[in-house]
Amino acid sequence: MIRIRPTSPCDVPALPGIERSSGEIFRQWAGLEWIADDDVQSDDRHRALIADGVACVAEMEGFGIAAFLNGTVCPDALHIWQVAVHREHQGRGIGRRLIEAAQRLAADHGIPSLTLTTFRAVPWNEPYYQRLGFTTLDNARLGPRLKAVLDAEQQAGLPIAQRCAMRKML
Ligand SMILES: CC(C)(COP(=O)(O)OP(=O)(O)OC[C@H]1O[C@@H](n2cnc3c(N)ncnc32)[C@H](O)[C@@H]1OP(=O)(O)O)[C@@H](O)C(=O)NCCC(=O)NCCS
Repeated sequence: MIRIRPTSPCDVPALPGIERSSGEIFRQWAGLEWIADDDVQSDDRHRALIADGVACVAEMEGFGIAAFLNGTVCPDALHIWQVAVHREHQGRGIGRRLIEAAQRLAADHGIPSLTLTTFRAVPWNEPYYQRLGFTTLDNARLGPRLKAVLDAEQQAGLPIAQRCAMRKML
C-alpha cells in the first residue's frame, strides 16, 4: 500500500538518501552517469519548500518513505523542482502518482499548469513526461521564468543542450 501525503519536517532526514538512490538509474545512460554522484537537495532546501512551496512524499507500508516531489507555486504554474523515487521502487507508477497529486493540488488552487525542467531524450525524463501530458517548450515559448531556471542550471554546470523545459496545461 502506498500513501501520498504532504511532507512533514520530520521526513527531511530521509529525503537526500532517496534522491541519491533515485539517481542510480543514470549510471545506465552513457554521458550522464555522473548524475548518480551529483549533489542532491539540501535539508534546508527541503525545509524551505515544505514551509513555502509544495512538498509531498509517497509512503510505503513496510518500507517508509519511497519517493518525494517538491515544487513552488508561481503565478502561471506549479513548478516542480524535483521528483525522486527510490531505485528499488522505480517503475511501479509512484512517480506518476506524485505528478498526479501535484496536478490535483494545482487544479484545486486554480493554477493553470505544471512546469519542470529535465533531460531531453532520457527515457525516464522528457519522453516519460510527454507520456504524462507535458509538452516540451521551444525557446520562443519559454518565457522569462523558465529561461532563468535553465540559465541557472547552465551556471551550475548542467549540459544545457541536453536540458529542456516542459509544461502541462491543466
Ligand atoms: C523519473 C522518476 C521520478 C519516475 O518515477 P517512477 O515511479 O519510476 O515512474 P513510473 O513508474 O510512473 O514510470 C516509470 C517510467 O520510466 C520509464 N523507465 C523507467 N526506467 C527505465 C529504463 N531503465 N529505461 C527506459 N525507460 C524507463 C518507464 O518506461 C516508465 O514510463 P511509462 O510508465 O510511461 O512506461 C524516477 O524514475 C526517478 O526517480 N528517476 C531518477 C530521478 C529523476 O530523473 N527525476 C526526474 C527529474 S526531472
